[in-house]
Amino acid sequence: MTRPAAFLPTAQTQLYCVIGNPVAHSKSPVMHNRAFAETGLDAVYLAFEAGDAGAAMSAVRQLGIQGVSVTVPHKVTVMEYLDEVDDRAKDVGAVNTVKNVAGRLVGRNTDGFGAVRALEDRTPLDSRRVAVVGAGGAARAVAFVAGWRGAKVTVVNRSPDRGRSLASEAGAAFLPLAEIQDLACDVIVNCTSVGMSPHKEESPVPAAVFKEGMVAMDIVYNPLRTRFLEDAATAGCEVVDGLSMFVYQGAAQFEWWTGELAPVEAMRQTVLDALGYPG
Ligand code: ATR
Repeated sequence: MTRPAAFLPTAQTQLYCVIGNPVAHSKSPVMHNRAFAETGLDAVYLAFEAGDAGAAMSAVRQLGIQGVSVTVPHKVTVMEYLDEVDDRAKDVGAVNTVKNVAGRLVGRNTDGFGAVRALEDRTPLDSRRVAVVGAGGAARAVAFVAGWRGAKVTVVNRSPDRGRSLASEAGAAFLPLAEIQDLACDVIVNCTSVGMSPHKEESPVPAAVFKEGMVAMDIVYNPLRTRFLEDAATAGCEVVDGLSMFVYQGAAQFEWWTGELAPVEAMRQTVLDALGYPG
């Protein structure tokens, strides 16, 4: 179902939003508004630049905002202002999604599930060797969820302390980035921001790491085809771009908030258009 182009919100229209700082370049609003339009839901989604996660959650309660995407720098601090955080988000240590359930604010994390769903379009993860490059927020989400899916995870990180700590929490192995030439894996995911525009020529790993038949995914989606993915494709790997993870984490938010199936293809196309990429 398609909503008329001239959609006029009324007093019944439900509000959803993203909070973060900065949020001016967030693609979540176009993606979720397209999803509302495709499914005909009487809802709108806005971006709010919020300096304080606690004040933002008070506003959510006061205004009856139905759902919130939480982005940098609030994914960790927001947790203390919620009524409930699901156990998986507690393990990951961050919340990227809040649902207002009749006045109770409940937190989840869909980032790792987005990544895993994008990977599972190409390969099952159960018993596969998955290398997670990085040890920041994104790496935490991917390492935990891949582990829950039965993958044998190795955290590969530049600073050993941070990498070892994530590996031990997630039940994963650890390899220092400096020793990545020793890596044997079926799937490799760049969970660092290395290669993001304007540093398009950079990759966190040497090209020799990629072997034919591996699946390589990048969480960076600007550019869509990063140096990491270019090197992987040249070596004969299957590549999964970062937009897939972004769209699937958004789809999981949408499905939790609304109970409707997310129109994933339309959401992806809308974000591609917003980024100025050809379809
Ligand atoms: P986020 O939480 O958004 O994932 P982050 O916490 O800043 O981001 O984490 C960035 C990750 O990218 C870290 O694992 C970082 O490695 P260190 O723990 O050694 O700092 C990694 N990273 C950043 N720049 C890097 C670079 N030039 N080479 C390799 N790894 C890098």
